[in-house]
Amino acid sequence: MMSELIDLLRYAPSGGNLQPWILKTDQNDTMMDITLYLDPGIRYEGQHTDHSGYGALISLGVLTYSIQYLCSTYGYRFLKKTIHSDRDIYKNSILINLEKCEPISSQKAEIFRNRFTDRRCYQIRPFSEDLKHHLLADSDSSLYFFDEDPKRKIITDLLSQLSLIRFQNKDLFKELSHELKLDKSASTGIPISNLGLSPLLEYITRLQKRYPLSLPFDSLYSWPLYESIIRPMKYSATIGCVKMPGKTAGAWIQVGEKIMSVWLKLCESGARMQPFGNTLCIANYFQDPDFFSFSERQRESIKTLHSEVLSELKIDTAEACIFFRAGYSNLERQETPRKKIITIS
Ligand SMILES: Cc1cc2nc3c(=O)[nH]c(=O)nc-3n(C[C@H](O)[C@H](O)[C@H](O)COP(=O)(O)O)c2cc1C
Repeated sequence: MMSELIDLLRYAPSGGNLQPWILKTDQNDTMMDITLYLDPGIRYEGQHTDHSGYGALISLGVLTYSIQYLCSTYGYRFLKKTIHSDRDIYKNSILINLEKCEPISSQKAEIFRNRFTDRRCYQIRPFSEDLKHHLLADSDSSLYFFDEDPKRKIITDLLSQLSLIRFQNKDLFKELSHELKLDKSASTGIPISNLGLSPLLEYITRLQKRYPLSLPFDSLYSWPLYESIIRPMKYSATIGCVKMPGKTAGAWIQVGEKIMSVWLKLCESGARMQPFGNTLCIANYFQDPDFFSFSERQRESIKTLHSEVLSELKIDTAEACIFFRAGYSNLERQETPRKKIITIS
């Protein structure tokens, strides 16, 4: 049963679909201990898009919650978890103690398997108020929704301008482009066909990946951004954020646990969602402003966006947080490639 659970866990979502996890299991007749680590084979220090490993820590939290969510279906009762957090991201670990029990039949495995990131436009249909209240009631004030202007507009500006900065910065662009895969045969990364782009923009994105060009005008970047960020954002039933106080590794892990619990509840009620790791750009910048090759204008822009969000929405984007959009759609779901989870015993 444990091997089936581990096999299914590969479908947990991760930043850039890196699937940066290593899982260590230790069991006897009655108990099962699972320890989660980050794969030391994936290095973050030199990366620009996630150089502090915040996205990886969120992903670690995502996997933690996934185990908690699924274990009863596979005959394990969740007892407790212990987060060991550390400044060195590879030393972060999460110990999950389970005890064996009778499997409890439920839809959870199916819900989990059918969860996916939907980056396309959603139906024009308001977000269920009941669902929102249900999610908020469960959230110890770590979850926020922004349904109306000017708050909603501030977030759209934040995400589109940060994307613009990432597209215009050579180093960031290189990594973003590396993350994108031309087809679905790769085992990690995101297929370009899953980005929800129009055929023309998909073609341009493929060309840009093969022959990366520095475009001379901001507007040449803004047009695809309209299609890939602003338009889908308009066609979202709601926009939300998960935020934990502080910048510790533990806080980023908790963001991961929370976003996954929200995500699965959304799926259970038939909704779709897309998270935005974009704001990690701000957290990374404040962590280490000189690490990046940002222009003066880009630096100013990051600081302005951060202070606007802080004063208007009361969310400190330099701390542990992630934004998402959610809504409803009847479109076919799109699979992303997966590799097997690395396990040690
Ligand atoms: C920490 C984190 C950050 C993410 N950031 C983004 C993002 O900025 N944009 C996006 O479209 N998807 C984002 N995603 C979604 C992942 O790309 C997606 O989950 C992964 O590629 C696996 O695909 P799936 O969700 O369809 O299974 C993020 C997911 C996580 C866990």
